Amino acid sequence: MNSRPPIITLDGPAGSGKSTTAREVARRLGFRHLDSGALYRALTFALLTSGTPEEDWPELPRKDFDRFHIWLRPEGPRFEVLLGERVLTDELRTPEVTAKVSPLSALPAVREWLLDAQRQAGREGGLVADGRDMGTVVFPNAEVKIYLTADLRERAFRRFLERSGTEPSDAELTLEAGKIQERDERDSSRVFAPLKKAPGAIEVDTSFLSFEAQVQVIIDHVKSLTER
Ligand code: CDP
Repeated sequence: MNSRPPIITLDGPAGSGKSTTAREVARRLGFRHLDSGALYRALTFALLTSGTPEEDWPELPRKDFDRFHIWLRPEGPRFEVLLGERVLTDELRTPEVTAKVSPLSALPAVREWLLDAQRQAGREGGLVADGRDMGTVVFPNAEVKIYLTADLRERAFRRFLERSGTEPSDAELTLEAGKIQERDERDSSRVFAPLKKAPGAIEVDTSFLSFEAQVQVIIDHVKSLTER
């Protein structure tokens, strides 16, 4: 086994439960959790609030993003995402940010700009990183790779419940599923770092698994690979 603790990657489509699962897996292993989507959301939020016209986003050079001072700060079992001195939390999950984050994430300048911060977060190992390209691009040598999926309507149901605290009607469920599907298609079809299962990843379908069961499947897999 390596001398440093392992890196575990969790990739998958929207609403598959990556972040909550990654957080719990990290907690149980005493590792730190990186929610890479929060970085893409932070840049989306910064661009929206700075008033940069959206049609200009695809032309922005990478160095132009430096002015926002987006960075990761280790804080207990996680990384906080900061914009200057401001810790970003709920503002990252507004419908507006969610609607704009996927097109922005397809831009190579954006992906390159965020690469370094993510790799720095993993430099000592002991990390559970979730996103779309953790096992394929950011940490291709990660010791453990997971691809988390779930049925589209199940993911839409969970997302709606998480956001509004109530169960969706049929019409609400269909609307939510449409938005999630559109984002997944964008994320999967882009040229740079598309969402896909990394070589060597195991796929965990959480459609019929309880939260506890899906966490346990992952912990068991980590142990089987790292305690040899
Ligand atoms: O939580 P949810 O799965 O809805 O999304 P997220 O993980 O917060 O990611 C938001 C968006 O950021 C995704 O739809 C992707 O477009 C982008 N993203 C990415 O391109 N690469 C990553 N490693 C993580 C997120």
